[in-house]
Formats: sequence, structure tokens, C-alpha cells
Amino acid sequence: MSTKTIPGPRGLPITGHLLAFRKDPLHYLEQSFREYGQLVHLRFGPSRHLYLLTEPELIKEVLLTKQQHFRKAKGLQTAKAVVGEGILTSEKEKHLRQRRLMQPSFRKDRISAYGEAMVRHAERMMANWSGGRTRVITDDMMQLTLDIIMETMFGSQLEPDVVGEISRAIDVGMKYVSARASSFIDLPASIPTKSNREFQEASKLLDGVIYGIIEKRRKQTEEAATGRKDLLSMLLAARDEDGSSMTDEQVRDEVMTIFLAGHETTANTLSWTWYLLSLNPDAERKLHAELDSVLQGRRPAPEDLDKLEYLQLLLWESMRLYPAVWAINREVVEEVEIGGHTFRPGDTIMMSQYVMHRNPNYYDNPEQFRPERFEGDFLKTIPQFAYFPFGGGPRVCIGNNFALMEAALIIAAVGQRFKLRLADDHPPVELEPLVTLRPKNGLRMIVEARA
Ligand code: HEM
Repeated sequence: MSTKTIPGPRGLPITGHLLAFRKDPLHYLEQSFREYGQLVHLRFGPSRHLYLLTEPELIKEVLLTKQQHFRKAKGLQTAKAVVGEGILTSEKEKHLRQRRLMQPSFRKDRISAYGEAMVRHAERMMANWSGGRTRVITDDMMQLTLDIIMETMFGSQLEPDVVGEISRAIDVGMKYVSARASSFIDLPASIPTKSNREFQEASKLLDGVIYGIIEKRRKQTEEAATGRKDLLSMLLAARDEDGSSMTDEQVRDEVMTIFLAGHETTANTLSWTWYLLSLNPDAERKLHAELDSVLQGRRPAPEDLDKLEYLQLLLWESMRLYPAVWAINREVVEEVEIGGHTFRPGDTIMMSQYVMHRNPNYYDNPEQFRPERFEGDFLKTIPQFAYFPFGGGPRVCIGNNFALMEAALIIAAVGQRFKLRLADDHPPVELEPLVTLRPKNGLRMIVEARA
């Protein structure tokens, strides 16, 4: 069957559904799913056809069993300006090779070495908190996860002003990708607009710093390099089956990829979790009771996480309601049949975690916050792609264990000492689905020291 029979809302003559979608993407997708079912046709501009897919078995075909017919879609192509041909944006052989080289560095036993740094940075952040004061928690979480990823990447010996410089340059890069990904017009990056100029300056600065560090590391003796546990040394030491390693440019692209993919996502997950806890005092009490009984006042460590069961449920539920990656798009590169329809090169399939995670076919009372729903083997009772905060298939998030450990350790370290509640004059919290799903205008919260 052709894709022409796929139903969808009426669109405007030239722009199609683009303007209505842009106005409120999450609501538009949910509404389209409710009205038209598992496959909905949308048109963005005169000729870009998108199909919202909400059937888990078919999502599995796109991300897993028929994935060779697809590539990452347009939004991610714009990220190439920042991350080049890193693992997030590359395709086919190149992606496979990079994934092979990088996978061992993200194994659970390797990343548990970063647990101490995660807790230490959380403690450093809290040293600036005083009880009863208001903090912009979204900024605190963003800075915290950035400090952590920076130390995990380069080790702890970077000078503070270099850390500051990199931090600012990454911020410019993230904003640039976000603005371009959601822009109506694709102006070439070479046009000297203010944001293009700022971005080019930030890129130059970052390249200078990163290539400088790589060069220094390459010159180090093997002896000095042995024992280093940071990600950069692992990237430099990684060897493929034929003994080949990464070029400096490849290492640079992967460093940038991990900065881009690996801090805002976790920061937003943390912010949403604080928000949910502040609205649900019972859940907060349960969390505190668990932290107090398991940790007995000790600093949390990766070995404690298996025992912090409620904290785990809380994170699953937070990522269900507010998935940091709210949609994944794939562009067809080779004709493919999905759900009885033949899709052609150029068509885009959109799979939205936000829509799936609130699908009443799989979740009772889906709008309700209830971490207990994940108890026992709930996840085994629903289809694999009814819950997929980290994606799936060969492009599943490589940092999923890292993110879960980081989020759990931070919630534990902070939750032991502070309670967070929304500032009294806080306006209603709105969702802002940019590259990641964040609270619009940030979250202002009062931090109260726990008795
Ligand atoms: C809660 C936090 C996180 C969430 C929700 C998340 C989500 C995702 C998702 C959904 C994808 C798949 C995208 C697609 O298929 O198009 C992905 C890919 C990726 N993520 Fe994460 N991520 C998180 C944290 C991290 C962290 C901490 C790192 C690194 C330290 C990381 C590194 C990556 C990389 C490199 C990829 C590309 C993998 C590939 O294409 O082979 N992520 N992430």
C-alpha cells in the first residue's frame, strides 16, 4: 500500500502542518495520535513528509530489525556543525567502527570509577546552597552535569579557567544547534550573522583547547598514561580489530559528541525529578526514608544503587513523564515496508517517547505520577518500545548506564541533605521541547536543609 492512504490532519497549502506543530509540538503529536491512530501523515513545508508512528512493534522495525533502511534525520544533521562525524551523527561503517571502539569505555564496571567524582561535584554544588534560599535548579543541574562530564572526560587536572572557557564555549555550541534545529530557514553557516560568528569563535576556541589536550596526551609517556581512567585516555588507547586507532580529528569529534549528548539530557532528567518530588510529598518521604535507612548518613557510592530501589522506580517514572529525548526521527534511505505501507527515500518516520510513554494502552492513568507502577517486572509486561527513554537497537544511548548512575547518585547525595520545593511565586511550569525536553524558563526552587 502507498503512504497516500495514511490519514492525518488537514494542513495549510504551502507550510502543511509545520506552523501548528511548532506552536505546541507535544500537544500536536498527542492529539494526532488520538485522532488518527498508529500512523499519522504530516507535511512540513511543500515536500517534507513525516509519519508519526506509535505502534511499538513497528517502532522496533524502524529502530532495530529494518534499521539499515534508515538514517538519522535532518535535525541531527545540523548537530554536525558541532560534533562533526562523531558516533551520534555518523552512519553505516563509520558508525559501527566508532561504536566498537567506544563501547568498552562505557561498560558498567568502567564507569563506576566515575561515581566518586559525581558525588564530589554534587557536594561542591551544595556547599554554595544555604537553607531557605531560592536557586535556579535548572542552572545548577546543568552546571553540575557539565562539571562531571568535563572531569570524566579529561581527569581532574584541568585548570579552573580552562574548565570555565570550555563550559562557555559548549553553551554557545548547544544554543546554536538548538536554534538551527528549530529554525524555519536554513541560512548557511558561512553567512556572518551574530550567532554564526559567535558559534565560529566558540568552535575555534574549543578546537584549540581540545586539540591542545590531545597533543599533550599523545606526547605523554606510556607510564604517565597508565592508570588514567578518564574517557579521553580510553578514546586515545582504543584499538579496532585490525589494530587501528582514532585520528586526532575523530577523537575531537567524539569528545564534542559526548559533551553534547551527555550533559543536558541528564540535567533535564534531574530537574524534572526535583519538580515531581516537590509536587508529591509522599514520594519524597519514601525517598528520604530509603536514603536514610540504606546509607545511614554515609556518602552514596555506585555499590549502594542496587539497594536504592525506590530511587530507581522514581527515575524510571520521571523519564516516562518527562523523557529528555522526546522524539527520535529517522529518514528513509532505501524503500521499505512498515505496517503494510511502502515508504520512499526522503520520508521521515517520527517516534515520540513523550507520546508513547503516556499511551493509555500501556499505562493506567498515564498522566498520574506513580513510581510504583514500575515495581516488579512491569517493564516485561509491556512491549519493548512502549518505554524507550534511551532509544533502542544499534543506536541505543551509549551513555545509558552512565546517565542512570549519575542521576541516582546526585539525587541520593542531594536528597540526603536537602528538600527542594518550588518558589512560592512560581508560575505554572510549562514544557519546552527543544533539542531536549526542558522546563520553560527554568525552575526556581527553595532549598531547605533536612532536619
Ligand atoms: C537521561 C539521560 C539521557 C537520555 C534520556 C539519553 C537518550 C538518548 C537517546 C534516546 C539516544 C538515541 C538517539 C537516536 O536513536 O536517534 C541517545 C544516543 C546517544 N547518547 Fe544518550 N541519553 C542520555 C545520557 C547520555 C550520556 C550521559 C551520554 C554520554 C556520557 C550519552 C551519549 C549518547 C551518545 C554518544 C549517543 C549516540 C549513540 C549512537 O548513535 O550510537 N547519552 N541518547
